[in-house]
Amino acid sequence: MKYMWEGRFKELIDNDVIKYTKSIDIDKKLAFYDIEGSIVHAKMLFKVGLITKKEKEEILNGLKKIKKEIIENKFKFLSSDEDIHTAIERRLTELIGKTGEKLHTARSRNDQIVLDEKLYLRDEIIDLLKKITELQIVFLDKSQTYFGEIISAYTHLKQSQVILISHYFNAFIEKLERDKERFLEVYKRINILPLGVGACAGTSLPIDRKYMAKLLNFNEVSRNSLDTVSDRDFLIETAFCCILTLIHLSVFSQDIIIWNMDEINFINLPDKFCTGSSLMPHKKNPDVFELIRGKTSTSIGLFTGLLTLMKGLSLSYNRDMQEDKKPIFEIIEILKTTIEILKKIIPGITFNIETIRKNISSYTLSTDIAEYLVKKGVSFRNAHKIVGNIVNYCIEKKKSFFSLTLEEFKTFSPFFKDDVFQILSFEKSVSLKLSEGGTSPENVKKEIDGWKKKLKKFLDRILVLEKEVSILKK
Ligand code: ARG
Repeated sequence: MKYMWEGRFKELIDNDVIKYTKSIDIDKKLAFYDIEGSIVHAKMLFKVGLITKKEKEEILNGLKKIKKEIIENKFKFLSSDEDIHTAIERRLTELIGKTGEKLHTARSRNDQIVLDEKLYLRDEIIDLLKKITELQIVFLDKSQTYFGEIISAYTHLKQSQVILISHYFNAFIEKLERDKERFLEVYKRINILPLGVGACAGTSLPIDRKYMAKLLNFNEVSRNSLDTVSDRDFLIETAFCCILTLIHLSVFSQDIIIWNMDEINFINLPDKFCTGSSLMPHKKNPDVFELIRGKTSTSIGLFTGLLTLMKGLSLSYNRDMQEDKKPIFEIIEILKTTIEILKKIIPGITFNIETIRKNISSYTLSTDIAEYLVKKGVSFRNAHKIVGNIVNYCIEKKKSFFSLTLEEFKTFSPFFKDDVFQILSFEKSVSLKLSEGGTSPENVKKEIDGWKKKLKKFLDRILVLEKEVSILKK
């Protein structure tokens, strides 16, 4: 078996070493990106006079053939193919002979792999931005459907204050919007060309990196060769963005699981999105949402692996870094499939408005009563105490706020007047939350209208990004 470094070696490499060090089974996923990078590299080698026009044409035709073989599932990976880079170079040389050996001029697999990963992540991030936006639209639809309906918000899983159901959904649109901002931020750093830094020091050959950056639609070229081959920040950052998005979706899932509990019964989940029990005939379980929690944990584990992988590695490239692919591929896959399944399930979730309403405690209005007293001139601390006393009284007498008389109110404070009854309604409570970001229908309606426009505009922006990267894929 021949290896690209055989000149230095007096004996064949041990088979177990070959098996242990190869990564082809995982990095073959990067095949098209590797070819994309090689095409641009060959064009550059010709431009600067390192290969002839004929050689360039041969290389490009060979690469095209390889791409076709991969698409048609005809590409044969050999047991001697260590990684995707060597597999493609090996096949190229088989197809076009000696000229194929010129492709690796002024290139190392150390810069090649960074390029492949960056091209891959650019595509995946654009796809994720699109998917997240579509999920935001699904949340927005729910927000519109239930506009006007009220539910209790929870802090510490205890009823706190009433809100619009729409406000709940809008909260997730916000979280996902920040997730998108984070992805776009990382995208900027991904969009810097690593190719051309060689193994770690650059090259004495007259290459043109800016030309390659232009062809690959990268905004700039990296500045330091040592940093470039050792940099996986962009990959860790992308993984983190995915994890945080998953964490948000796990929070939503947890609420769905709770709202779906038999004794709570705030929502209905369509049968086709639930699973049953192999033993208990009556069960209908929200397994998808439980698995979103579970898969989020798996992703966090993989992410921790990535961080640990990079910790304390001496500068610059170290083979450990080969282990970065599996976790990032898996994390991205988990996020993508999670978003897709949520996009399918959420539209089918319905709320049992009556049950929700019946379960809202009148005590969720306690802050409104305190604020009523503040408006009458009572200090907030004092108002808090007065209302606390009323709550205690009600608990003892098994009363709700709604059954109190003005006389009873007055025994706690002379500031209570007849108008206190005007604020004793859930509708009134939400309508008064006019402060910016508050849950009043006025605010929430504005938010809904704003999101409608903003999300549509974002989908247009994605089209532009898609076009930018698709130029390469002809
Ligand atoms: N397969 C390697 C990786 O994924 C790239 C090859 C670099 N190998 C080397 N011996 N310098 O990181």
